Amino acid sequence: MSVIILGIESSCDDTSAAILKDGEILSNCTANQEAHKLYGGVVPEVASRAHQVNIIPVVDMAIKKAGIKKEDINAVAFTRGPGLIGSLIVGVSFAKAFAMSLNIPMIEVNHMQAHVLAHFAENPKPQLPFLCLTVSGGHTQIVLVKDHLDMEVLGETIDDAAGEAFDKTGKLLGLGYPAGPLIDKHAKEGTPRFSFPEPKIPDLNFSFSGLKTSILYFLKKGLKENPNFINENLNDICASVQDRIVSILINKLTKACKQTGIKEVAIAGGVSANSALRQALTDAGQQEGWNTYIPSFQFCTDNAGMIAVTGYYKLQRKEFVGHEVKPIARYAI
Ligand code: KG4
Ligand code: ZN
Repeated sequence: MSVIILGIESSCDDTSAAILKDGEILSNCTANQEAHKLYGGVVPEVASRAHQVNIIPVVDMAIKKAGIKKEDINAVAFTRGPGLIGSLIVGVSFAKAFAMSLNIPMIEVNHMQAHVLAHFAENPKPQLPFLCLTVSGGHTQIVLVKDHLDMEVLGETIDDAAGEAFDKTGKLLGLGYPAGPLIDKHAKEGTPRFSFPEPKIPDLNFSFSGLKTSILYFLKKGLKENPNFINENLNDICASVQDRIVSILINKLTKACKQTGIKEVAIAGGVSANSALRQALTDAGQQEGWNTYIPSFQFCTDNAGMIAVTGYYKLQRKEFVGHEVKPIARYAI
């Protein structure tokens, strides 16, 4: 018998719903919240309210696009955490109401585990065990994936996430939010001729706060000498910052591969949409003899497809939760 799962994602500022049938994505619909652009970052209260407005239309669209009926759905998988509590509450409450109305089971999903398992939404799929560099607005982790639901974090950021490094740099440069895609765009037209230091962090951990400070001082100095410094050098500054962020990520990933001897290597999370990171992983893979896995754009940033895929693996183990389940802002893999 076929199994159809509705996936729900609402951990930050994207409201997303997806339909998965027997492990295949039929639809993956996301409503982005434009309002945060006005504030230069995600405003939790605004995000929570927008999820409330968006969730029913997005679920409706996912069901229609998949060409199924609501009654065909066998289980609801939802993001329980980590994330903004007010945002998570909307998705969790919706999942409860939906599951109750159809009398179907609920599956709770860890958002970071789901970013990794986004790789199983499409082909080719990584062979187990593999390493996944998960880079988003809130997290930067190197994850050892032993099995679909058995993961170990080998290293992570001790301060800012890689996505934050992009977004905070964007703020200093006067770019909009989220700045990652804008820096990516400007960098394509620039040359990485400015150098920023690589942080000296031991093991497989990351740090991006020092980079942010060095960019701040670099810009202050440049602006003192020339008030138009940013405008005149924007593309080159973006290329230089991006180059450093990418090299920090790839150097640590290379170290992790050497330490573990693993040659199946993936990237995931919003920052894996970055064109330079995608290229650098491909290049490193060719040089080091890795098989590399890069998600298509719809599975990089927050999406419910990855939640439904994770739900599919949990459903096979009958890992259901009761209606007393609560969202949690911090949730380790
Ligand atoms: O995974 P995600 O959608 O949400 C979180 O769970 O945080 O990641 C969002 C992050 C933001 O920091 C955004 O600037 C970054 O991903 N991002 C990018 C690109 N596209 C999104 N960063 C660099 N280059 C991109 N093309
Ligand atoms: Zn995410």
